[in-house]
Amino acid sequence: MAHAGPVIVVGSGLAGLCTALAAAPRPVLLLSRGQHANGSASMLAQGGIAAAMDPDDTIEAHVADTLRAGAGYNDLHCVQLLAAAAPASIHWLQAQGAVFDQDGDTLQLGREGGHGVARIVHAGGDATGLRVTTALVAAVAAATHVEWRSDVEVDGLVLRGGRIAGVTVDSGGRSETLPGSDVVLATGGIGALFPSTTNPPGANGAGLALAFAAGAALRDLEFVQFHPTALDVGAGSLPLVTEALRGAGARLRDGIGRLVMANAHPLGDLAPRDIVARRVCQARRETGAVTLDARGLDIDWARAFPTVLAACLQHGIDPRSMPIPVTASAHFHMGGVHADDIGRTSIPGLHAVGEVACNGVHGANRLASNSLLECVVFGRRLGAHLGKQPAAWSHASNGGAAALELVMRGPGLDHEAMQLLRDTMGQAAGPIRTEQGLREASETLAPLAGRGWQARLAQELLACAYRRKQSLGAHWRADAALTPSSASIAVA
Ligand code: SIN
Repeated sequence: MAHAGPVIVVGSGLAGLCTALAAAPRPVLLLSRGQHANGSASMLAQGGIAAAMDPDDTIEAHVADTLRAGAGYNDLHCVQLLAAAAPASIHWLQAQGAVFDQDGDTLQLGREGGHGVARIVHAGGDATGLRVTTALVAAVAAATHVEWRSDVEVDGLVLRGGRIAGVTVDSGGRSETLPGSDVVLATGGIGALFPSTTNPPGANGAGLALAFAAGAALRDLEFVQFHPTALDVGAGSLPLVTEALRGAGARLRDGIGRLVMANAHPLGDLAPRDIVARRVCQARRETGAVTLDARGLDIDWARAFPTVLAACLQHGIDPRSMPIPVTASAHFHMGGVHADDIGRTSIPGLHAVGEVACNGVHGANRLASNSLLECVVFGRRLGAHLGKQPAAWSHASNGGAAALELVMRGPGLDHEAMQLLRDTMGQAAGPIRTEQGLREASETLAPLAGRGWQARLAQELLACAYRRKQSLGAHWRADAALTPSSASIAVA
């Protein structure tokens, strides 16, 4: 079968890997910054993958929990696609070589915040992202339709007649143009634009900024999820302390030993993540520190939480005998490049999948362990769609004789300016926001906008947050009028 030219997939996290695999037999060029999937947020994901696998669970219940977490702002069609495809996605991952934790023949199912039942499939305890992504890296390496080029930075998009015609890459200081009729952005999130994050340092919004520079429609940028329990050991990329630990009974305490979530929400420590994150911020502000107390839990640390245990021990904290210091940190971007349910963006030939994309599935706040699931479900849908493209890559349908246009992301900010940007974003666009704070942050960043793409992207996010006057999901405006349901979780 002849095909419509190569697919270029930018990013080797789970979304990119699934898209590449599912596009077979169409040729795929997979471009990554590092070797294999190193540096992707997928590798760091701990909790697992949500799927209604238990006979007593239902797709409808998974849909309902996803909508509740997303404050009802979700795209219902995409949520239904996600939840309905979840069980088959687990089987597909197993077929690719992923091995999930089981009791005998039965998958072990964990519980996380916002879920009404135990629904989290995991691998190697809290090493799910690492295990699943590693299995897919091997599957992609064995796939003959995928050519993988690592150590390249995609820094521009090539268009002809308004349609994608390829990308430009920086490869060890050498610039190159790679032709392709379809480009998939699978470049992850924006946590590195904040002072602390559970994301890897490379999650700096570079793919989002590229789409923005090319004029692609963006959506819901103001919705950024903050994880309540990053290990409080400094700034930058911090180790995650998985929510599954609270699912196993760990409790949040403030600096004077009080339970942080007491009387705050019926689900207590397992309330939706945005609510817990705000309480953690408030408690830190009032009492100087927040800890997660996992002492005395009846768990096999080495089997169930090897990643958290290792990260804590590395910083001199033994979670079996000491409370774990935690802080709320940027974790997941619900907003992104506006995409439909098969990843198409407003620019013909440009696609987006995974965290960089926004098809509305997560609404205003993502439900725990729906992110790896999103990568698999929508990555496979996009890959299958691209793989079925007819052999109609004609000169006419690809811009005819129109001249090639090159859209570059442009230079980035220097270290000092990035520091200012992160601090500003942390102050103004963190878990608790105000109109004044957002306006002042935009003024602070204005002089940087001409100097680096990060500032332009951050300003766009601030503008979206400024325009949304009411609190919704992860976007909490402390200056907004309180609704009766939000009053009980208000923070100063
Ligand atoms: C966690 O393990 O707490 C994070 C999982 C997720 O982001 O869904």
